[in-house]
Amino acid sequence: MRIEAYERIFMILAGLMLVLGIVGIGIGALVAGVHVPSPAGRIDPRTLSTTPPFDQPGLRDLGGGKYEAVVIARAWQFQPNEIQVPVGATVTFTLASPDVIHGFVLTGTNANVMVIPGQISQVTARFDQPGEYLWVCHEYCGFGHHQMYGKVVVR
Ligand code: CUA
Repeated sequence: MRIEAYERIFMILAGLMLVLGIVGIGIGALVAGVHVPSPAGRIDPRTLSTTPPFDQPGLRDLGGGKYEAVVIARAWQFQPNEIQVPVGATVTFTLASPDVIHGFVLTGTNANVMVIPGQISQVTARFDQPGEYLWVCHEYCGFGHHQMYGKVVVR
């Protein structure tokens, strides 16, 4: 079978891109430690509001510039929807939903996780610059989805 020269070049280029993509994923996963956030635990969505730590949502100072923000994502608000931390803080967000699937994406950081009923989601972000960092629900969760947001105030 005869293959045109240009066609051969494009086939080789396409093959190379495929190999590069797979190698890139391999380097990211095995060397750079890139990974999809995995569930930090399981929780019964029906008893979420009485199960620690979600019985007392809010910010906890863990010392040494580290904080934990326990946040409930429910239709259609985050509770709490604002936390305040000092510059240089590292905040681990611990999230859960009592109803439907929500999302959590924090602008200006890599924090991006789904909040699925029945599981506890965790992401960590460090805030080296003062300002306000908006977070939003990025999974369509119904009528009030667009008003599901919150913010981190860094001073
Ligand atoms: Cu919650 Cu969209």
